[in-house]
Amino acid sequence: MYSSSFLFLCLVPGYLLLDPLTGGLGVGAALFGSVLWSSKERVVCMFSECCREPYIRANLPGLKDNLRENVFGQHIVIDIVTRSLQAHMKKKEPKKALTLSFHGWTGSGKNFVSSFIAESLFKEGMKSKFVHHFFSSIHFPKEEDSGTYKTSIQQWIRGNVTQCDRSLFIFDEIDKLPHGVIDAIKPFIDYHENVDSVDYRRAVFIFISNTGGKDIAKTTLKHWMSGKPREELTYLHMEEALNSGAFHELGGLQNAELIEKSLVDVFIPFLPLEKVHVKMCIRRELEKRLKVEEEAAALAAGSEGSVPLRTFTEADIDSMANKMNYSPKESLIFSTSGCKKVEQLIDHFLEEDW
Ligand SMILES: *[C@@H]1O[C@H](CO)[C@@H](O)[C@H](O)[C@H]1NC(C)=O
Ligand SMILES: [Mg+2]
Repeated sequence: MYSSSFLFLCLVPGYLLLDPLTGGLGVGAALFGSVLWSSKERVVCMFSECCREPYIRANLPGLKDNLRENVFGQHIVIDIVTRSLQAHMKKKEPKKALTLSFHGWTGSGKNFVSSFIAESLFKEGMKSKFVHHFFSSIHFPKEEDSGTYKTSIQQWIRGNVTQCDRSLFIFDEIDKLPHGVIDAIKPFIDYHENVDSVDYRRAVFIFISNTGGKDIAKTTLKHWMSGKPREELTYLHMEEALNSGAFHELGGLQNAELIEKSLVDVFIPFLPLEKVHVKMCIRRELEKRLKVEEEAAALAAGSEGSVPLRTFTEADIDSMANKMNYSPKESLIFSTSGCKKVEQLIDHFLEEDW
């Protein structure tokens, strides 16, 4: 609001100054004025984010490639996330808001995948004003305030979807949501053409939790012990784990009306990561960090010549990966924190207190 009227006021004097030269001050100003009014929104949208292209992207550019390049060990996730989003975006009139529920151990990439989804939906990615990211422990911490939370959530969703029907809502730690709060979201993801004349069906909701992670890991372990390649695990293998985990573990989804009515379109299983995936994360993060350091060093050195490159070896990556914890005790194949603590490891490595 502020930025649009500010911009308008800035532009008008410029046109008025030009006008006397052409001799038609009154007519000219009126004409320019109306052109300005009608194109005001277009001009504003050149400088700040609006709910339209190019800020809102229609065809999810690069989603699958980005996921494949950056998210390690999650072939089921990549496949299902890409397919369900593409299907949703293709529909002129989706029957309901797309609702994805992410499940799995910490560090398996749930937030990471959410950020790629945001990037493919919005030019500004996670920074877009149309992305709303809630953490239960921060935004909805108190059981006794659940009534207030319900009211706020409904106002926010209504307000934001009114402004942009393609809004993305991410509810992180949804298993820690106070009892019953999740029901406040239900009307917005249900099969209604509109609620109070607002149409919510083009929006996307993502629920994130560790719920079901134990059962997903159990299924993955069983598959691993049978000697079959991880990539042969399918959604069907995971379905049972998701059914038992997502529905019956204690937490926000338990007994929620949301689940009984199957308003969640897809439950998405994030597999526990193996050491080989942790090493991929370490390598990617190291390369990224070294590139940044090199560029900074090159800038500081100016024209004085080349900057000595910091290097790392396969053994460095190994030893970093070995600092992680693995489970279960008998096989130690899964990283208990996935790729989550990789950044800290690399901090230590780069500070050379390795
Ligand atoms: C949109 O959601 C945010 C929370 O992410 C909230 O603070 C804001 O008030 C909402 N906007 C409207 C217009 O309701
Ligand atoms: Mg998380």
